[in-house]
Amino acid sequence: MVALANQKGGVGKTTTAINLAATLAFQGQRTLLIDLDPQGNATSGLGLDRSTVDTSVYEVLLKEAEVEDAVEATSVRDLFVLPATIDLAGAEIELVSLFSRETRLRTAIAELDQGFDVILIDCPPSLGLLTVNAFTAADEVLIPIQCEYYALEGLSQLLRNVQLVTQNLNSDLKVGGVVLTMYDGRTKLSKDVASQVRDHFADSTYRAVIPRSVRLSEAPSYGEPIEAFDPMSRGAIAYRQLGREFIERHGLSKGG
Ligand SMILES: Nc1ncnc2c1ncn2[C@@H]1O[C@H](COP(=O)(O)OP(=O)(O)O)[C@@H](O)[C@H]1O
Ligand SMILES: [Mg+2]
Repeated sequence: MVALANQKGGVGKTTTAINLAATLAFQGQRTLLIDLDPQGNATSGLGLDRSTVDTSVYEVLLKEAEVEDAVEATSVRDLFVLPATIDLAGAEIELVSLFSRETRLRTAIAELDQGFDVILIDCPPSLGLLTVNAFTAADEVLIPIQCEYYALEGLSQLLRNVQLVTQNLNSDLKVGGVVLTMYDGRTKLSKDVASQVRDHFADSTYRAVIPRSVRLSEAPSYGEPIEAFDPMSRGAIAYRQLGREFIERHGLSKGG
């Protein structure tokens, strides 16, 4: 179980969550994507209409619904989503006064049949209670880093939060990987950021680098992952490579 997190918005968390989840499913892994961002972009990006979702991750966190009843199939075989709606915006506050507020997601997921090879969690752009729930449930954190100005800003805060959760709530949690996103090979800036990140996270940075590509930003409005929308595009090729590396790193059997 992997939480995609970076408290900065717009760095490619959701794009990576959707397209990594989809390529893993295409590569034979039964995959669940949990949308933990009230914006619900992972939900709509996979073709679900948020206005018709009646049971979402919100009801699951508040124990008003069973997780099995909230998980939905997508147009990709082997890819499932636990959708988010705007209701989730309230959860950050509503959870505060509740018993076991940090472990709600972990408890709910434990009740899921052991039916998935991989579970990815798309976190909101904050380090609040929703992200803490993701960190408490997950085995590792995957950090997307945008190859842009200030890429490394805020990372020490993120790492400190991971450490706090490791010390207090989930001793299994570790930083499992860093993915470079929106890389533009024509700019010195992208190259500089990439090499800085590789210096900093030598062991955990994935070799696959996600290029800046218009096709990747267009795919969500068609409700499709890039693998279905334009499988020969550079973005699709990059996410496929990322998926292969992910499978290798985690010792998952190829073809599920
Ligand atoms: N590799 C990419 N190339 C071009 N646009 C991208 C790429 N990755 C993300 N985007 C676009 O950038 C914006 C922010 O990406 P998103 O994945 O939603 O970030 P986050 O979830 O971190 O806020 C979105 O409009 C998305 O379509
Ligand atoms: Mg997002």
